[in-house]
Order: sequence, then C-alpha cells, then structure tokens
Amino acid sequence: MLSAPCALLDHLMKQITDSKQLQDVLGKLKRRRKTIGFVPTMGALHEGHLSLVRKSRKQNDITVVSIFVNPTQFGPKEDFKKYPRPLRKDSVLLKKAEVNFIFTPTPEGMYPEGLEKKGLSPAMKAALSLTKNLCGKFRPGHFEGVMIVVEKLFRIVQPSRAYFGAKDYQQAAVIQKMNEGLPFKIKIYVEPTIREKDGLAMSSRNQYLSPEERKRALAVSQTLFEVRRKILAGEKNLKKPISEAHRKLALSVDSVQYLEIVDPETLKPLSKVQKKMVVLTACYVGKTRLIDNVIIRTS
Ligand code: PAJ
Repeated sequence: MLSAPCALLDHLMKQITDSKQLQDVLGKLKRRRKTIGFVPTMGALHEGHLSLVRKSRKQNDITVVSIFVNPTQFGPKEDFKKYPRPLRKDSVLLKKAEVNFIFTPTPEGMYPEGLEKKGLSPAMKAALSLTKNLCGKFRPGHFEGVMIVVEKLFRIVQPSRAYFGAKDYQQAAVIQKMNEGLPFKIKIYVEPTIREKDGLAMSSRNQYLSPEERKRALAVSQTLFEVRRKILAGEKNLKKPISEAHRKLALSVDSVQYLEIVDPETLKPLSKVQKKMVVLTACYVGKTRLIDNVIIRTS
C-alpha cells in the first residue's frame, strides 16, 4: 500500500545534480516512511526505460530516475563520447511519467577520486564470476564499471526497490549478485524486454542504425526466437540450433560476437536442455553493437 500524499511532494518533478542534496531530500521522505523506487539509466530514454519507471511508480511512493552516462563502463574504443544525451527530451518524458526526482550527477560528482578503477569491494568481487563470459569477454572492465557506478548510486539513493531490464541480462545478473553482498537491503526487480512492433529490442543505441542497418538488425531477435522455437519443438541437442542460428545470423549482421545458450543463474554454457535457459547474442550491425536475449522455459 502506498502512503498518503505529503507536502514535500508537490507533484513537480525535481532535477537534482548534487548527491548530498538528493540524500537530504530523500532522507526527509524516508523519515516519513515513504518508499523509494529507483531506476538507474544513461538517458536517451525509450519505452524500455519507461516500463521500469511505471513499475516503480506502481510499487513506491517516490520514484527517482538517474541519468548518467557512466564513463567507467565504456572501453577506450567505445561510444562514450557519441552516446546520445537528449536531456531536455528525457525530462519531458519523465515529467509525463510523473517521476518525482531526476538525478543528473556530473562525472566529477560521481568520481571525485578520478576515473581509475581501484580495488573492488567484496560485494563486487563476489559477482566477478558472472562477468567472465558473454559480454564480459568482449568488453573487458565493462561490468566492473557498471558495478562501481551502481554501488555508488545505491549508496546515494538507498532505495527500497531498484528496477533493471532483462534486455541487459548479464548486467542484471551481476547487479543482483553484487546486491546480495551490499548492506542496503534493496529489492531488485528485473523486468521484461520491451520490443519494437517487429521484435527489435528497444535500445538507446538503435538510433545509430541507418535505415538499411535497421532492416538487417531485425535478424537479431528473429534468430533468438527461432532458437527458442526449435528447442520448444523438441530439439534436444543444443549445439545444432545454435550453430545453425549463428550461421544464419552472420548472413544479415556484420559480425557475431557470441550466440550462446546458458544457465539463467550461473550464465555457464549448456549442452543439455533444462527447464529454464537463456539464449543470448551480441553482434555488430555496421558500427553499432546490439545485444538481445530470450528466456526459454521447457516446462
Ligand atoms: P541504460 O542502457 O540506459 O539502461 C537503463 C535500464 O533500462 C537498464 O536496467 C536496462 O536493462 C533497461 N532497458 C534498456 N532497454 C530496455 C528494453 N528494451 N526493455 C526493458 N528494459 C530495458 O543499463 C544501463 O543504462 C547502465 O549500464 C546503468 C545500469 C544505468 C549503469 O550505468
């Protein structure tokens, strides 16, 4: 049950850049027993992000959305500089969605000690085993950067609940594992991937695609759905549908980094069918790296 309205909340969304200021105002609300829902993002918002916001609005008195393009999770050759930052448009969307606070910290505010990744906390170390394969293999240091920023954000906001998308399956798994070792008692929700009508998973990076690339990108979700179809139709040998799908996908996209079926908890590759599995892929269409995954439930 959500609690009654309060004077600290005047229905106007507030944008806060200073973490102390955010902590102060959230502290006051927490003392009034308001529940806080938190949606961390890097902005360039779409329906995927907004689905998380709606879930948070339903379950909490207050919703905080952070927008921060986190430098420590990008590799030196990745798209940190060109990552879209349409803050005006994002604020309009969040206001419409009746978000209470947007937190827009600066890199200096988040990393007063500099951007170098020094010692990981024990909670982060416990999650490292989930970062070795899939995206972790192709983006060295990426998940360390994600854990560092999410831990900092959790420490600042200390929400009751935090919301992540299944679209970034490995990220959600890593954050859940790290959260088990943190002292904040945050309940993590992982919400379904929101797709375009034709099946392409929504992503802030889709706007990099040219019309021709956008057409070819459709093969990503179609390939995953086809793997799921084959397994649900009784295919027992996981190697066969995967190598077929890999070959087919490579005809449409420019390169396939991985296409794997893994255990949903350990993220270890599977050779035999089991009750619940995840098929995941990462590939390049032109210069754009796309990731997607689909859950397979056989019972
Ligand atoms: P970003 O890519 O902006 O995504 C923010 C959240 O939205 C993540 O939890 C992501 O999984 C979710 N999301 C993205 N696309 C989605 C879709 N199509 N359907 C459902 N959810 C979707 O992920 C990050 O930012 C960053 O790594 C972050 C966690 C904020 C740390 O910097």
